[in-house]
Amino acid sequence: MVKTLNPKNLLFVDSDDKQHYSLKQILNKIIEGDALEILKKIPEKSVDMVFMDPPYFLQLPKKKLKRWNVKTDVEGVEDDWDKFSSFEEYDIFIKTILLELRRILKENGTIWVISTYHSIFRIGNIMQDLGFWILNNVLWLKPNPMPNWLGVRFTNATETMIWATLGKDVKKYTFHKEKAKEFGIGKVGANVWEIPLCSGKERLKDEEGKKIHSTQKPVELLRRIILSTTNEEDIILDPLAGLGTTGYVAKTLARNFIMIEKEERYNKATLRRFELPLIFKYKEKKKKE
Ligand SMILES: C[S@@+](CC[C@H](N)C(=O)[O-])C[C@H]1O[C@@H](n2cnc3c(N)ncnc32)[C@H](O)[C@@H]1O
Repeated sequence: MVKTLNPKNLLFVDSDDKQHYSLKQILNKIIEGDALEILKKIPEKSVDMVFMDPPYFLQLPKKKLKRWNVKTDVEGVEDDWDKFSSFEEYDIFIKTILLELRRILKENGTIWVISTYHSIFRIGNIMQDLGFWILNNVLWLKPNPMPNWLGVRFTNATETMIWATLGKDVKKYTFHKEKAKEFGIGKVGANVWEIPLCSGKERLKDEEGKKIHSTQKPVELLRRIILSTTNEEDIILDPLAGLGTTGYVAKTLARNFIMIEKEERYNKATLRRFELPLIFKYKEKKKKE
């Protein structure tokens, strides 16, 4: 079982420019810094599962978008970390990280990558070109999506998660089929998970009541991923951790984690988050056969 963590010991800021970390140094820590540099220092074949939630590269216009029916502002992802000068620059960012993740994953490990239509097809293409073998795309269906913008296209209520192994020949990866059946819609456990956007007490806010992070993922999403595709004591890596949802859920489910996040303000909030008990909103439902 994973031991209780003291949030004060959670942050690891690398100051001595080491070439490599030992696993002991970074296990159950947030490493503050640039993932492109830090990943190079993580030992090879050391992690069982990766969850990656990269920038979406939304390419929003400078002028605020208004909703067509109520004329309120659309809250998009306007953060600097979501900005790239071109698709080419974005692709290089994704490819550089994926190459390191190939080295760091254990042979039977798996990787999850989540994004919207803005970038998930590019990411899938890059993954296949690098030799990853796609096992599934799991669709996250949001019953409470952000309302439509200008009324010129369908409201986007999904994100896609690619789940893959290191290659076609990998057969001994972890998959708990009873969990897949429980989480997916319908009797067969289809690859569609209906989960609301994270809101209420789960959403981390600052003193003024503003969201700390524009794309905080629901605890329930990570719970399903971790329970269906890892075992207790496994090591889960999140290279672009935001508010640390992956590690926060991993810890509660007796898994180990390594997280990387470059923004100090997010890491400070993550440290506070780890002091709170995690309450799953969802009870494990028994489906009728
Ligand atoms: C989509 S968000 C992840 C949200 C996270 N899953 C959560 O639930 O809070 C992507 C994160 O990647 C971080 N990021 C972007 N580029 C990075 C880099 N080169 N190194 C480390 N972190 C980076 C951003 O600061 C941002 O918090």
